Parts: sequence; C-alpha cells; structure tokens
Amino acid sequence: PVPTPHWRPAYHFTPAKNWTNDPNGLIFLNGEFNLYYQHNPFENKWGHMSWGHATSKDLISWKHLPVAIPEVISHDTTTWIYSGSAVLDVKNTSGFGINGKPPLVAVFTADQPNQKKESQFIAYSNDGGLSFKQYAKNPVIDLHMRDFRDPNVFWYEPTKQWVMTVSMVDDHMVRFYGSKNLKDWTKLSDFGPAGYTKNGWECPSLLPLVVDGDQKNIKWVLFVSLGGEHGPLIQYFVGDFDGTTFTSITDKSKVMKVDYGDAFYAAIAWRDAPENKKILLGWLQNGRQETYPWKGQMSIPHDLSLKTTDEGLVLNQLPSVFVTRSLSKYANGKPIEKKNVAVTDKGLKLPTNSNAYWIDAEIDLKNAKKAGLNVVEKPGTDKKVRVGYDIEKQELFVDCTTSEKNNKSPENLLQTAPMNITGGVLKIKVLVDGSSLEVFGNDGEKVISTMIYPDQDATGVSAFADGEAVIKSLKMWGLKGKS
Ligand code: FRU
Repeated sequence: PVPTPHWRPAYHFTPAKNWTNDPNGLIFLNGEFNLYYQHNPFENKWGHMSWGHATSKDLISWKHLPVAIPEVISHDTTTWIYSGSAVLDVKNTSGFGINGKPPLVAVFTADQPNQKKESQFIAYSNDGGLSFKQYAKNPVIDLHMRDFRDPNVFWYEPTKQWVMTVSMVDDHMVRFYGSKNLKDWTKLSDFGPAGYTKNGWECPSLLPLVVDGDQKNIKWVLFVSLGGEHGPLIQYFVGDFDGTTFTSITDKSKVMKVDYGDAFYAAIAWRDAPENKKILLGWLQNGRQETYPWKGQMSIPHDLSLKTTDEGLVLNQLPSVFVTRSLSKYANGKPIEKKNVAVTDKGLKLPTNSNAYWIDAEIDLKNAKKAGLNVVEKPGTDKKVRVGYDIEKQELFVDCTTSEKNNKSPENLLQTAPMNITGGVLKIKVLVDGSSLEVFGNDGEKVISTMIYPDQDATGVSAFADGEAVIKSLKMWGLKGKS
C-alpha cells in the first residue's frame, strides 16, 4: 500500500496505524478525555475487533496507548470486543473496586462469530482505564441472538440504578435494562420500531440535553445509527425518560437526522465531561478510498443542545468549546481575517499551504442565488469542493461534483441539508483536515460531514457567488500537525 500522509488529519483523531470504526467507552477521567475505539490492531481493515485507547486533555492532541481490551481466542471460541460504553463506578456497586478506588467498568458486546452470537459482557479496570479484566461470569445479558449489540450505560440518580440502552438490531428496537450492580440486569422497556427502519439499528444511546440554554429545562434524546438511503445515518428522537420508559415527543413517522453527509456514524457522547457538557463523537467512514497506514478517523467532537424552532425541538451541534478554546495553540500564526469584502475581490483567494484549516464565515448573499466557499482547490485545474447555500432550494450544500469522482457514489456527490437563513446571511464553519470536511450551518442547526481526498497540492481556498454576495466576516486558521 502507498502511504497517504497528506490525507492524515492534523486536528482530528486517527489511530497511529491500522483500522478504526466506532468510538467506544468515551469517559472523562482524572482530567483527561478517554477515547476507546473499535480497532483492528493487526491490519488496515475491519477484523480482530478490540478496544484501542487514546487520551487527550484538549480533544485535539491525542496520546496513543496500548490496546485496552483485546480479542479473546480460546480453542473453540473467538470473542471480538464490539462497541459499548464505560462508566466510573463511584459507589463500587459492582464490587470490582480495590483499596477504596472506584473501578472503571466497560460494558460492551461480545461478538462470537463461530457461535453466531452476540451477548453483553463487562470488564473492569483498576489502573485508570489502561487495562481491563474480563468479568468471570460473562455474559451479563444473553438472549441467544445473532444481532443484539452496542450497550450504552449511564447512572440514573432518581431510581439509583444503572440504565442500559442496547440494540435489538433486526427488530428496529432499543431495549432498556436496569441494574443495581452492573452484573444483574432486568428488562425495563422497549422503544421502536420508529422513524427509519429499513436497515438494522445499531449504537443506541440516551442523553439528557438542556433546552434553549435553560439548565432547568431538560429533555432526553435517543440516538440510533443505521444505514440510510445514501449510506450511514444517525436518527434521533426527542422525548422524556422516567427511569423505565422513553416516550418520544418526536412524531414517530418522522426521520430526524443528526448529520446530512455520507460519513458520520456510530456516534456516542462522553460520560462525566466537565461543565456538564454533552459532547458527541462520531466515526467518519471513508468508504471506498484507501488511506495508509491507518483507515478511519473520528469527527470533530460536537457540543450538543436542544433548540426550539418552527419544526419543534431540534438538536443543535457545534464544534466543542474544548476544541475551540485550544485551537489557537495549534494555529500556524495569526488567522487570516476579512471584513465586508465583495466576493469578486481578488483578496478572496486565501493563501494556505496545507489542507488543515478552519474557517468561520458570514456571507451576505445579496442578489446571489448561490454563494459560499471553494475549498481544496487544485491550482491550474477546476478541481475543488464547493461549500455554500442555495437560496432557491433553501439548502446548505457540499458539492463534490468537481472533485474525487471515484470516491463517492453519484448520489452522494451533492450533499444537502434543508436550512433557512435570516436576512439573507449564511453563517458557516468549514473544517478541512486532510481527508475530512465538516460544515456547520447557522450556529450548529445543520451539519454535513463527509470525506474528501484532495491531491497534496490542492490547497486553494476562495469565495464564490453567482451574484453580488459580500463576505461580511471571515476568519481562517491554518492548523499544524500535532505531533
Ligand atoms: C457499527 C458496528 C456496531 C458494532 C461494531 C463492530 O459500526 O457495526 O454495531 O458493535 O460496528 O465493529
């Protein structure tokens, strides 16, 4: 395989080498964000599923650590460590703690391909999450099913118990379980089928989120990952949770999307993050294109909240403040700044020398029907990716038709999200990092995440409009590699 260093992101997580898919066991512990991830320690493709491990203080720069939970192979059984979550058992309800130190408990799916079985296992760590011991009496939940996976656990204080969401994949249902000790689980309820049900449900999780910034107003959001019409999809339901049952206030025939691109998948949130933040991290799938010596990367972490709109209560997502607070430390010098310049201005060819940058912009479309930014432009060619807004269609868009034709199916070349803009002004954040592109519209109302594969010299950035649009403000940071 040919090494592809120019596609290695500078400010997003990738394993040092080999494959990753879903983020697992996200937990903030002892001042650090822990990231476990679905990992093949041996090859640059899916297989030998284990939990890889890395930690970060700022969600930008990551320290790579040894595999935390490896596959287990015995004479007749291979156990792969599939997706799941981790909790700090502060009250030592499990009894796994030693010397008064709370254990970290991982709850995950054991996939046993020879037995065609998936069941839920637990493992515990007494060294701060570096290594885990498998619980001797695993599995803790076994329905003798082929597809039953991705447990996500949290402590629910009113009933003083652990609550798990886990996927009944082919039934398009999320099953809720409760436990006092993380070992014995009883069924609480089922949610679903609802929303999109054409493919198997995976990676469910339930989160309490603040509504319109009012800390006392909390609604619960249930996330489910599944294959959609155009690739990966994460749908969500807003509702209430009483410790036993989740009741959706989102119309169950409606499909609410977390992301409108073709890459964001299997996202879960950090447990115990500082400032009570709910921070979502997804896997960005890179489909057909080989990258080497790693494959797969994580999204930028998203801070989540709920917002009241004409469509009802909807999810709002912005790059996490933990990232933005530290960003300047990774910048190549001062940001480029523009204020009130016409899109036709020659100064809007923005100089870069790499494909790791971050743009915050406000564009007044004036009489233009479409306007936005061209990124990853290759000099002397018309190769680029266009990110912008279409007034007539009222859509935020990422248009890859003039780039990387081999890497996307035709229906994914143009990715769009329905979005209104106020006063004709588009607000966007555009994050380009090696081979990923993430676009946040209207302060986090809509997100489009996708993978792009620009040539090494495709570092051009400029503005475009089919009329007299004006860049009200633009700030662009070049970002350097973290190692
Ligand atoms: C989602 C998923 C999970 C499973 C894991 C296996 O991408 O299929 O349902 O636990 O990947 O790697």
